[in-house]
Amino acid sequence: MKRVALLGATGSIGRQAIEIVEAHPDLELCAASSGSSPLDGIAAEHTQVGGDLTELLDRSRPDVVLNAVVGFAGIHATLWALENGVDLALANKESLVAAGELALEAQRRGGGRILPVDSEHSALFQCLEGRTAEQVDSLVLTGSGGPFRGRVRDELTAVTPEDALAHPTWRMGPKITIDSATLANKGLELIEAHFLFDVPYDRIEVVLQPTSIVHSLVRFRDGAMLAHLGYPDMRVPISYALTYPERAATPLAPLDFTSLTLAFEAPDTETFPMLALARETGEKGGTYPCVFNAANEVAVAAFLEGRLAFLEIPEVVGDALARADGSPARDLDDLVEVDRAARAIPVA
Ligand SMILES: NC(=O)c1ccc[n+]([C@@H]2O[C@H](COP(=O)([O-])OP(=O)(O)OC[C@H]3O[C@@H](n4cnc5c(N)ncnc54)[C@H](OP(=O)(O)O)[C@@H]3O)[C@@H](O)[C@H]2O)c1
Repeated sequence: MKRVALLGATGSIGRQAIEIVEAHPDLELCAASSGSSPLDGIAAEHTQVGGDLTELLDRSRPDVVLNAVVGFAGIHATLWALENGVDLALANKESLVAAGELALEAQRRGGGRILPVDSEHSALFQCLEGRTAEQVDSLVLTGSGGPFRGRVRDELTAVTPEDALAHPTWRMGPKITIDSATLANKGLELIEAHFLFDVPYDRIEVVLQPTSIVHSLVRFRDGAMLAHLGYPDMRVPISYALTYPERAATPLAPLDFTSLTLAFEAPDTETFPMLALARETGEKGGTYPCVFNAANEVAVAAFLEGRLAFLEIPEVVGDALARADGSPARDLDDLVEVDRAARAIPVA
């Protein structure tokens, strides 16, 4: 029996994870949390609404922590799992982006294993299993391009949160859906991939695959490529992370090849500058990725509340990065302070 602590149980990933746990006799929910929503109807041994997630983890003694909290708020749980040698099924990419080096140090000390839940990283993880670093030429992250793919800047001046929330292929929480529309999500995933797989940025490519059937690819040095395919359904990577190294059955229909469209195109980084900004930020390192993430969270919240225009999101993030000095964080307290300072960026 594997004891699962599900953080962010009321969210999009959280609800799908409950479905997976309930369908699998070898998984049990030892803990469930939310930020403020009630946890009614969620049968877990320990529950917690708000508060310090590490206290919940201390008392529930999980075998695996599924971190499905949105944003920097998930950072303490990520570091707890890595430091305590507990498997971390990681959906909360923001924590690895913001804490990169600290997270890897915690992992070196504690031995916690990261099992990616982000579909692209789960795909890469599976394509890389059993390979050595020398065999790999580059990682290729795929993205749908979001609801505004193909538009030019002039067509984005007046887009509303409702327009941006209409994602073509995935049904997700609001923050990641806006990130998908700006391509910030692909930027966060680029930095996440760098830390997860220890691959330099110049060997991580991004390509758009609008139907989200190809979840990512790896190029090997002999010219061979491995790709991971499937319908866009987060229950697959959630299930893989929770049952790893086994593969449990899921209720998905088999992929119908006769209805597949597998076109690829390059991302438009001029219309959607967040991807290039994330690459630059990741390459600069230090606490720049933490600042990128914090300012993006602030800008996305302001856009969703109607206080900021869509095209102003990258401007806010660019301003925050220009104000930051990016020096590496010595510890979590340092990082929390960098995050706090970056959030003070004025938005309309
Ligand atoms: N959704 C997807 O398909 C998908 C795919 C790949 C990766 N991810 C990643 O998975 C994470 C979750 O995404 P989501 O779409 O599931 O988000 P979501 O639907 O907005 O759910 C977020 C969850 O986090 C909880 N939460 C929010 N603020 C919190 C805080 N300060 N402290 C503790 N818990 C808090 C929420 O509780 P309340 O209900 O109380 O607000 C909710 O349970 C994100 O990092 C996202 O990038 C999601």
